[in-house]
Amino acid sequence: MIEFKDVSKTYPNGTKGLQHVNLTIDQGEFVAIIGLSGAGKSTLIRTINRMIDITEGHLIVDGTDVMTLKGKELRRFRRKIGMIFQSFNLISRSSVINNVLTSNVPDMPWYKVLFGIYSKEQKMKALEALDKVNILEKAYNRCDELSGGQMQRVALARTLDQSPSIILADEPVASLDPIMADVVMSDFRRINEDMNITILLNIHHVDLALKYATRVIGVRAGEIVYDGPSSQVTQDVLNQVYNGQTVPTTENDTKTRKADDAERAGKKEKRA
Ligand SMILES: Nc1ncnc2c1ncn2[C@@H]1O[C@H](COP(=O)(O)OP(=O)(O)O)[C@@H](O)[C@H]1O
Ligand SMILES: [Mg+2]
Repeated sequence: MIEFKDVSKTYPNGTKGLQHVNLTIDQGEFVAIIGLSGAGKSTLIRTINRMIDITEGHLIVDGTDVMTLKGKELRRFRRKIGMIFQSFNLISRSSVINNVLTSNVPDMPWYKVLFGIYSKEQKMKALEALDKVNILEKAYNRCDELSGGQMQRVALARTLDQSPSIILADEPVASLDPIMADVVMSDFRRINEDMNITILLNIHHVDLALKYATRVIGVRAGEIVYDGPSSQVTQDVLNQVYNGQTVPTTENDTKTRKADDAERAGKKEKRA
């Protein structure tokens, strides 16, 4: 369980990233965090594994006040929490399986890391993780041979390999095309349902949030302005969260992109 108790985050320059956030997230929930750029979505997610330190309140994960953790305890705590980024963070010249195996590095002696000596058990587990995200057949390909969507699945496998109870994902599908975004979101759903891993992700496209998450948290200027089932997100709610601005959906973004392309093409014609 993740509990935010009156949590605020003020950055050193005075920017308020979060303001008086109260939340309880149970084990096994699938939560999407939505909001405008700069609303505080990344701040919210990154406080959970202490990538960002809160400045007020209490943040309790599975009974532990995370601000009290340091050194070895903090490292052990972080192992329980997987983190996925928009940019995948893979070693592109290395094989898929080697990327997954790096999840073992924090627990290995340096010489084994240096020579890439992994046990049979570790290799089996890595292959299982790849199987869970349906990319086993790419195990011995180099990462830079994969598509963006495939790379995100490898990143997800690497996270699964550390047996997390929570996965945090900061805009995991933002750099993928709509079809791959859908595929990766279904991976998250399968992992959530089959393994009861809590999933907490920031997502730009509201349609994907509503399709896959069971709970939606709307953030505006560091405050929670909606927290409820995705089935109860109405247009009014979205107007609140997005401050009356156009709601970002896969469809709206495609339209905007097409309009931009058309405008660029028009300009080119005029110049010619
Ligand atoms: N390291 C930082 N120092 C100062 N301000 C920051 C820092 N990181 C984020 N912010 C500010 O905090 C607010 C929330 O940012 P962020 O959590 O990244 O929003 P989002 O992920 O929703 O786009 C924004 O105003 C942003 O400019
Ligand atoms: Mg962000």
